[in-house]
Amino acid sequence: DQIAKITVLPGDYIGPEIMKAGLAVLKTVSEDEFAYQIDERPFGGAGIDETGDPLPEATLASAKASDAVLLAAIGGPKWDRAIKRPEKGLLEIRQKLNLFANIRPTSISRAMQKYSPIKQVEPVDFVIVRELTSGIYFGQPREIDDYRAIDTMHYTVDEIRRVAQVAFEMAEKRRQHVTMVDKANVLATSNLWRRVVEDVSADYPDVTYDTSYVDAAAMKIISAPEQFDVILTENMFGDILSDESAEITGSLGTIPSMSRGTTGPALYEPIHGSAPDIAGKGIANPLSMINSVAMMLRHSFDRPDLADEIAKGVDAVIESGIVTPDLGGQATTDQVTSAIINQICERRNAYVENNV
Ligand code: NAD
Ligand code: IPM
Ligand code: MN
Repeated sequence: DQIAKITVLPGDYIGPEIMKAGLAVLKTVSEDEFAYQIDERPFGGAGIDETGDPLPEATLASAKASDAVLLAAIGGPKWDRAIKRPEKGLLEIRQKLNLFANIRPTSISRAMQKYSPIKQVEPVDFVIVRELTSGIYFGQPREIDDYRAIDTMHYTVDEIRRVAQVAFEMAEKRRQHVTMVDKANVLATSNLWRRVVEDVSADYPDVTYDTSYVDAAAMKIISAPEQFDVILTENMFGDILSDESAEITGSLGTIPSMSRGTTGPALYEPIHGSAPDIAGKGIANPLSMINSVAMMLRHSFDRPDLADEIAKGVDAVIESGIVTPDLGGQATTDQVTSAIINQICERRNAYVENNV
């Protein structure tokens, strides 16, 4: 049918606060434009509280039957001692939906420069393509006893190739450059990554390709972030570098992400967590969630027009200085959200008036 099915997972702590903002913006741009129905489900700590499992069966079934999944954030001190933590549910949904490629954009436009903690930053626009369903997060053996613990970083050629292809395909449509980030001076898995990525790069003659060790890449994200176009990396390095990259835009609370496989629904979520330290205060930055909604409309529903309307509204509000405390402002979550909704509506009305 024509009605888009979206599974909505508000999650924990600030999760429901920012999800509310994201859904309000979705409703605004969708009016007369995009038909959808949402199926809201418990997930993470909320899943544990309601059913005893961070990924309840019915939640997974809803996600599998959807056209896209919107997630806010999960986890927090309330469940840190749970037998199965909320984070486990997150890893499980990624694995069960086969969301092997996680795309995390970082951009600093001219209008955003004033929010960056980097002095005299140039405009920045890169994406991290993070492998999401393998590596040290999932490798076996994984054990702990009173004397030692083991985690295993494990990769197969196929797992590397499929995510590398995603990165090169993205680079073709961008500035045609891929930087593979690894620790090939130490790790066997990184050496396998180099072989496979080298091989994949041959299929994309228009895309240039280089490599960087992860420690040096962490440095360059601060000293020369404008150099990057597409960063391709394994699961844990991508986790760490994406928080670092987010922070150079001014706040972790602005960055969305998309996680996708080859078929089936993609999942959209902020890259940050449930921010228990600010939950309940009404000051969580809703931009990461609102940007995730835009990313969903663009990539899962082929509505770049609606995504652009959101992006323009967000840019205008950021420029006007109506921002939450993490960006140095004094606005609340609701004030930022209302300002964006007003921007979208004003632009729509102006467009209608100019075209009758
Ligand atoms: P966090 O990302 O929740 O917070 C880190 C810092 O950034 C905090 O000071 C927080 O207040 C701030 N922050 C994050 N998002 C913000 C927003 N939208 N607006 C304003 N400030 C924001 O990381 P943490 O504190 O290490 O983790 C808290 C919980 O979240 C943990 O249980 C962790 O496992 C979980 N987590 C979940 C996800 C997810 O759901 N995808 C991602 C990361 C962490
Ligand atoms: C993220 C989070 C998760 C990760 C945690 C909560 C399992 O930090 O989405 O970046 O490490 O992938
Ligand atoms: Mn993370």
